[in-house]
Amino acid sequence: MRKPLMAGNWKMNKTVPEAINVVKSLKSAVASVSGVEILICPAFTALYAVSDEIKGSNISLGAQNLFWEAKGAFTGEISLEMLKDAGCSYVIIGHSERRQHFGETDETVNKKTKAALAAGIIPVVCVGETLKEREDNVTFKVIEKQVRVGLSGISPQQASLAVIAYEPVWAIGTGKTATPDQAQEVHSFVRKIYEQMYKESAEKVRILYGGSVNPNNVSDLMKKTDIDGGLVGGASLEAESFAKLVEYSK
Ligand code: PGA
Repeated sequence: MRKPLMAGNWKMNKTVPEAINVVKSLKSAVASVSGVEILICPAFTALYAVSDEIKGSNISLGAQNLFWEAKGAFTGEISLEMLKDAGCSYVIIGHSERRQHFGETDETVNKKTKAALAAGIIPVVCVGETLKEREDNVTFKVIEKQVRVGLSGISPQQASLAVIAYEPVWAIGTGKTATPDQAQEVHSFVRKIYEQMYKESAEKVRILYGGSVNPNNVSDLMKKTDIDGGLVGGASLEAESFAKLVEYSK
């Protein structure tokens, strides 16, 4: 069965001392959790220090972006080797904020996804429709293209390892969560598309829901068959609320 994954996306928040503070409390708060994989994705500058702090714990480390080239004249970019060196085993790719503010497309998402998998880092590939797209009834069309292009050209084994995050753009940071039924509808659609692309890998791929997930709504979302975890922004910034999220089933 798919092991649930609860991922914290800290976005552009926290200095190194602030990150370490949260991680220290989180570590002890979730020390006894074993049924859920726990992932935190701090800013680049805090990765190395956080990686040291979580050594030997049940918390994994991820980055929020990468560049697909190995090295060279790409000012301001970060390679996969650098992420591995900093202790990352996951990387978020194509978050809607990167698509919206930094011009990322399904094609760049695909390059990043392939590069991450080739380097042995698990990509968390984000997809999701805007409010306008939902209102225009093109949600499924948009999601299908994001999945088909963003995750194309990988091996079946890589397809099982990858993680997909469905994050309706209108639900991110707005306090408006998709209802569990709305989310499940899209999650099962994503799995169906994935099945057409990668056959039995579709049963193994974890599909996270993201968008205003909090300790109060997490259990209802997690009851849905095709929701395998959460990608959490705001509620992952404090150890107490993220620990509650991780322990959703208790
Ligand atoms: P939110 O962010 O939980 O603050 O809505 C989720 C995300 O952007 O990954």
